[in-house]
Amino acid sequence: MKFFIDTANLEEIKEANALGILAGVTTNPSLVAKEEGVDFHDRIREIASLVPGSVSAEVIALDAEGMIEEGKELAAIAPNVTVKVPMTVEGLKAVHAFSELGIKTNVTLVFSAVQALIAARAGATYVSPFLGRLDDIGADGLTLIEQISSIFNVHGIDTEIIAASVRHPVHVTEAAIKGAHIATIPFNVIKQLTKHPLTDQGIEKFLADWNK
Ligand code: E4P
Repeated sequence: MKFFIDTANLEEIKEANALGILAGVTTNPSLVAKEEGVDFHDRIREIASLVPGSVSAEVIALDAEGMIEEGKELAAIAPNVTVKVPMTVEGLKAVHAFSELGIKTNVTLVFSAVQALIAARAGATYVSPFLGRLDDIGADGLTLIEQISSIFNVHGIDTEIIAASVRHPVHVTEAAIKGAHIATIPFNVIKQLTKHPLTDQGIEKFLADWNK
């Protein structure tokens, strides 16, 4: 499983990139809105120049025609821009059009296995099931990853599964076990992935012994 970072913040991206683990970046309108005074297209351009992997930039239009227009502009920013499209009928029309044009897509806001299947059949490069938001309503986000992975394997579908709305390290471990190709992770959770209390205790003990 590869790691993407889920942020539009340049400092976070640079710091995570320094670890050598970043295969891509996902943004969404809420994450971009947190970056006050920033032009959306400029920010996507900066991110795409920092990280060579896929950089997801989301369309705002709700109709296919509008999504296609916005998506073409986003895809023209850099060759590694992936157009993020919501999981709707209009979104799938746009995904189909983008796939004909050779533009990569990330279908976002996926909450059921059948949504993932239909998005893949429409030509999505990636589908993004949202783990945390399902857990929040008492459903099971990780089971969804398992279901999508199993359907894609049985039917030889090469659309990649991005585990999204990741809230803690257990989501990351389990998403990897259950077959997600990628997890897109907020920076605070990426930092948590490096931590274990026994590592800290071990370092403390080694240093104490060394100083004796
Ligand atoms: C994924 O591409 C989304 O940007 C993201 O993971 C949403 O996460 P949230 O539920 O924490 O907002």
